Amino acid sequence: MMPAFSHPIFITKPMLPPLSQLSSGMERVYQSGNVTNMGPMHQELELELRAVLGGHNLVLYNNGTIALMAALQALDLPPGSEVITTPFSFAATTHSIKAVGLQPVFADIEPEHLTLDPVEVRKKITDRTRCILAVHVYGFPCRLDELAAIAAEHDLRLIYDAAHAFAATVGGRSIADFGDASVFSFHATKLFNTIEGGAVSTGSLERYDRLKNYRNFGIIDEDTVDSVGLNGKMSEVHALFGLLNLRTYQQELSRRRDVRAIYTEELSPVRQVHIPDYPACVGGSYQYFPIRIEQFRDVIYHELKRFNVFSRRYFYPLIADFKPYRHLAPLDSLPEARKAAQDVLCLPFYGDLADGTARSIAHLVRSIIDRHAR
Ligand SMILES: Cc1ncc(COP(=O)(O)O)c(C=O)c1O
Repeated sequence: MMPAFSHPIFITKPMLPPLSQLSSGMERVYQSGNVTNMGPMHQELELELRAVLGGHNLVLYNNGTIALMAALQALDLPPGSEVITTPFSFAATTHSIKAVGLQPVFADIEPEHLTLDPVEVRKKITDRTRCILAVHVYGFPCRLDELAAIAAEHDLRLIYDAAHAFAATVGGRSIADFGDASVFSFHATKLFNTIEGGAVSTGSLERYDRLKNYRNFGIIDEDTVDSVGLNGKMSEVHALFGLLNLRTYQQELSRRRDVRAIYTEELSPVRQVHIPDYPACVGGSYQYFPIRIEQFRDVIYHELKRFNVFSRRYFYPLIADFKPYRHLAPLDSLPEARKAAQDVLCLPFYGDLADGTARSIAHLVRSIIDRHAR
């Protein structure tokens, strides 16, 4: 029996810049005395991210949840309008809809990449539907063409929660090229992080102004506040982390590609394990390494902890089963999402995970399955 790892291995390890770079950057912050309110680091990071994410208008926020709320409120929809969304995501996706006074409506996901199923979306459209909020879950791009066609046909806005899809590409195009707006999270758990942070990227100039105003209490100038807003500003210190991490995220991405290859080599021969893969035209974001395991998901999750390995059952429980949303979806609805919530396991996944450690984790998963399958 393999011994437990001497230190805990968590689902991710945030990419952090070298302390020496951070301290020289902090000297600049101290010298300027400018620590927040869209200062120079903030402006520099917005420009750099804009270039990385496809060149559209880009607005930084203090986290991805506020960025989601900003993207939705910028649509200026009538209160209570219905937003069709996926139940298979992180809580923030649905919470953001409620938080801006709109009504979430869940549609089921498709079984291979676990993103919103366009066929199910069509079934949920009513005369109150105004928007689709789809998620590139685990960085797997949604069915972009089909969702765009539905949105055009029914005059709906289309927002993508791209929290897991930083720098992903589809057919060589940035993931931010699709829909009315794309929303990113730069939380410490994300491939590219500013510790806490987020952004909205949009091609629309009109929405760009609304997105900026919402971030700063609706303030237009010293004399004018003309809309409801909040404090969505990223501080200079967080922006500094972002500027430094932008220098190295591509190395992190390529290391994650290697770790993914090791896990795939070790686990794809296992009959009970299915590894969803990126379609050929997709440049992956390598945000997570999800596997689907028939039957033994929870056993593996618990037994791995005994070896000091902390995998995550993202996304269990399903958002549709959270107390505030339970009444929206009966237990016999959303079958694919419910199945995924029961069988997906995300293994520890980050650039600093040594090859040997990834191999050992995969061996552990195999041996747990072997033992229980007997
Ligand atoms: C799919 C998804 N959307 C939104 C968010 C919210 O982002 P933040 O934590 O930056 O508020 C997250 C996660 O953290 C997420 O995973």
